Amino acid sequence: MRTLITGAAGQVGHDLIERLHAQGDEVFATDMRLPASPDPRAQWSTLDVTDGAAVEATLDALRVDRIFHLAAILSARGEANPALTYAVNQGGLYNMLEGCRKTETRQLMFTSTIAVFGPGLPDPTPDAVSLEPTTMYGVTKASGELLGAYYARRYGLDFRGVRFPGLIAASLPGGGSSDYALYFFIEGLRSGRYTAFCRPDTRIPLMYMPDGIRALLELSAAPRERLRRSIYNIHAFSPSARELAEAVAAAIGGADFDFDPDPVRQGILDSWPNRLDDANAREDWGWRPEFDVEATIHALIPEVRELLRTHPEAFADAHAG
Ligand SMILES: NC(=O)c1ccc[n+]([C@@H]2O[C@H](COP(=O)([O-])OP(=O)(O)OC[C@H]3O[C@@H](n4cnc5c(N)ncnc54)[C@H](O)[C@@H]3O)[C@@H](O)[C@H]2O)c1
Repeated sequence: MRTLITGAAGQVGHDLIERLHAQGDEVFATDMRLPASPDPRAQWSTLDVTDGAAVEATLDALRVDRIFHLAAILSARGEANPALTYAVNQGGLYNMLEGCRKTETRQLMFTSTIAVFGPGLPDPTPDAVSLEPTTMYGVTKASGELLGAYYARRYGLDFRGVRFPGLIAASLPGGGSSDYALYFFIEGLRSGRYTAFCRPDTRIPLMYMPDGIRALLELSAAPRERLRRSIYNIHAFSPSARELAEAVAAAIGGADFDFDPDPVRQGILDSWPNRLDDANAREDWGWRPEFDVEATIHALIPEVRELLRTHPEAFADAHAG
């Protein structure tokens, strides 16, 4: 299968390339800027998704079977620059959808987020609730879900996506509000201390990256007739920030973690659900998480250790942003 990824130089793209290549796909990786050492398992080219003509030319030239559209500005960075977030997340998706329509590309996979939800929702939060996001990131992702569903109805595009929880992986976070979770690992192992930018009772859905990647691949491969929706909640675990800090500290033999909430990021975190109800994903395409919080901690510690050993410079000032 010929598969295109946008925003492929980011956290999710990094792991997705590896998995797609392992299952035999021919992978075309694109991003605004190429990474310093591009993964040789993909064919790389630059693509700015805000450039509609470039998007169409790329899709026309490559004639791929499916696209994983990852390019986005995430929540915390998004609040620092709402105009850019609108251009990339909203305009970029529109360009991709139009590109798919014009080139008759069959499937577009979308990565939505818990940020589409707003405060005051039932716990756990089901798929079909009123979406009242509080951030530009959430607004663009919520309208992206609707826009994709429109292209599916109107033009027959096979548009599918998951609402990712905060993803935890051994890589440099991309400016999401859930980044505190990864910094317990990075700073715990690097310096033995970390002051999280959230309250200790903060509780949001989190997921180990390999489960998130597997969800994308399984949803992409699911028979169309089994799917009753285009966008699905997926859930793995929801520890409080304190519970996660204590579990990571215990697993690495002790660390000095404390909490100093940043009002902007805390406000974003407080607007998100505690838990997602993913019953539809389980029923329609057999979604099951493989990693609970303990399994994630166990798997991630050696990965983060290795990353710190091989790329110490990338993390020297990591949590400042
Ligand atoms: N990481 C998470 O916890 C998380 C949670 C929920 C949803 N998601 C979604 O998953 C997707 C991937 O997230 P990620 O963690 O890899 O993010 P990331 O920030 O690590 O990567 C995003 C990539 O998009 C690229 N990009 C930005 N503007 C672009 C443009 N104009 N044209 C092309 N590329 C551009 C960036 O260069 C970057 O490489 C995003 O759509 C995000 O909204 C991620």
